[in-house]
Amino acid sequence: MKSISDYSTMVEEAIIEKDYASKTPESLYGPVAYGLQKGGKRIRPVLLLMAAEAFGKNPVECLDPAVGIEMFHNFTLLHDDVMDCSDMRRGRPTVHKKWDGNTAILSGDTMLTLAAQLMMNVDDSRLRCVLDVFNSMSVAVYEGQRLDMDFETRDEVSVEEYLDMIEKKTSALLGASARIGAIAAGASEKDCGLIYEYGVKLGLAFQIQDDYLDMFGDPATFGKPIGGDVLNGKKAFMLVSMLERGGSDADALREAMKMPPSELKVNTVRSIYEHAGMPELCSRTIGEYSRKSLKALRSTSLGEEARMPLERLVDKLIDRKK
Ligand code: IPE
Ligand code: IPE
Ligand code: MG
Ligand code: MG
Ligand code: MG
Repeated sequence: MKSISDYSTMVEEAIIEKDYASKTPESLYGPVAYGLQKGGKRIRPVLLLMAAEAFGKNPVECLDPAVGIEMFHNFTLLHDDVMDCSDMRRGRPTVHKKWDGNTAILSGDTMLTLAAQLMMNVDDSRLRCVLDVFNSMSVAVYEGQRLDMDFETRDEVSVEEYLDMIEKKTSALLGASARIGAIAAGASEKDCGLIYEYGVKLGLAFQIQDDYLDMFGDPATFGKPIGGDVLNGKKAFMLVSMLERGGSDADALREAMKMPPSELKVNTVRSIYEHAGMPELCSRTIGEYSRKSLKALRSTSLGEEARMPLERLVDKLIDRKK
């Protein structure tokens, strides 16, 4: 049985083989290649390959859609870093910081279309279905990203609204990755739906962990600066959970969020979260969604051995520090 790193190595090698760095104009493709350089976890293409193999397809035949899904993810990151004013990712300057905003927009657009092209390399009989999932997922991501920005200027956002937002901006892509792998392998409608559900629930756990690490991670490992969400007024998981719960900690948090952007603000909010037991709430909630994810996976027609890589991925992601 392949390990998670066997799958990610396949993705890494397939990306290198595309050699985007040598394409011209260099000013367009240089940032594309930079975005795709190693350093990312490659979760989405790994999910696609694992799902394909679980349902009986040789994953080598799915490398183009796998690179396509990683390309799409990196397109969203180029634009997300502009929208979130984020200067660091994977321990390096972001594209808009290293080049400029226009470069991030146009190289990002290029990545979106390259992703769609790569996605077309599936059997003709499955192409329409794959593109339908890909397009619906893309629109969901844009809706989620828009809601994420709209929430910045809203005082109160419910946990339910937050979950709807992250299901769109993050989970839709994890779900689609798994689903496209299953479609490429010719899995049944029912299994495609269940594997999508597995990816969606995993995505919810994944984004809550990202929000947690944004506050409690080690910047050297996480690769992104700590406290960015607080400084941007993001309605991240701990914030919406505390505000919904109410009480004196929530009042203190509301006051702290009025502070001007500074390290002091980040440290103050962090102490309030610690005092209110938010790290524990994060791990409980992540545990709940990962169990829901595994439940959907175990409801597919896959046997225990075929499921194993996808099960291991859940365990690995909920423990991640980067
Ligand atoms: C970052 O995704 C965006 C989120 C949905 C949180 P990853 O954490 O998968 O980023 P890389 O590709 O591994 O850097
Ligand atoms: C990730 O949201 C969602 C997308 C990139 C579509 P974040 O804004 O939390 O991701 P990071 O933290 O910048 O990676
Ligand atoms: Mg964002
Ligand atoms: Mg961001
Ligand atoms: Mg984040």
